[in-house]
Amino acid sequence: MTTYIPPGKRRPQSPHLPFGDRRDTPFYGKDILSVDQFDRTALEHVFGVAHQMREMVERVGTFDLLKGKILANLFYEPSTRTSSSFLAAMERLGGSVIAINEVRYSSVAKGESLPDTVRTLEAYADVIVLRHPEVGSAALAAKHARKPVINAGDGIGEHPTQALLDLFTIVEELGQVDGLTVTMLGDLKYGRTVHSLARLLAQYDVRINYVSPETLRMPEPIIGELERRGVKQRSCNALEPALEETDVLYVTRVQKERFGDPAAYESVANCYTVTPDTLRRAKDRMIIMHPLPRVSEIALEVDDDPRAAYFRQMEYGLYVRMALLAMVLGKV
Ligand code: CP
Repeated sequence: MTTYIPPGKRRPQSPHLPFGDRRDTPFYGKDILSVDQFDRTALEHVFGVAHQMREMVERVGTFDLLKGKILANLFYEPSTRTSSSFLAAMERLGGSVIAINEVRYSSVAKGESLPDTVRTLEAYADVIVLRHPEVGSAALAAKHARKPVINAGDGIGEHPTQALLDLFTIVEELGQVDGLTVTMLGDLKYGRTVHSLARLLAQYDVRINYVSPETLRMPEPIIGELERRGVKQRSCNALEPALEETDVLYVTRVQKERFGDPAAYESVANCYTVTPDTLRRAKDRMIIMHPLPRVSEIALEVDDDPRAAYFRQMEYGLYVRMALLAMVLGKV
């Protein structure tokens, strides 16, 4: 015998997500190559779905939204967070993964081209996630693939899914983006995450400070683009003048792998380290973010500060990537 439970008291047993195929949605079957594809309406959609994904993972862990779907996770460059979170995202949605994290053990080592590799993988999978050292590689792969390609970082170009999870972190942690001051610190020249994030932030009413050594400045084309879009920006060499007004301190690693000259890297390798002492002048209600991996730019002692959001940020990436996979595969 089953006990009758009035409708108002029933707990949802299934995901509070619009199940079934949604081929009328804007991202169904689409590649995700650049943050330029996301206006504020699209961002709100991603964040709404990501928030639901977070609730579902907290409530049931794994569910079958993408059961039967296969992701090819193709990484030509090292990755821990992006590759593992896409893998976890697909598995938490009930799908499965072909993981190629070591292309030297694939036919790439025999000289296979990127277009041939993606044509091969799309024969087996429904969606391809690609990280590659060359700018434009994801667009090249997408040109040759019939299935959706998601850019997981193309050299010093873009890392759109990181920028989306960065913005989602700000929304989840601070409740809004408009009105905030974001300070980007470190390697703003080679750090692709800051390039993508700055361009996404340009859709909001924000102020952006760039703090870096002279040789690692934010590229002029990005500063120029944001200027044309009316974003208030300023560049400085030291963090102190910007810290007191900062709501989001976005710290980046100096990208050793992008330097041709080891001496040039050594000259800026330890240019900034955020310590508990640095943060004494920061607001109580602010967050410290970092795309990770960290080397020496944030002292380990900062990890215990509640404002240190970088490990939470990494977790938000799982929910954003679940949302993106569900979107391009026509489920939300
Ligand atoms: N943030 C980021 O892209 O980390 P991984 O290089 O570990 O994927």
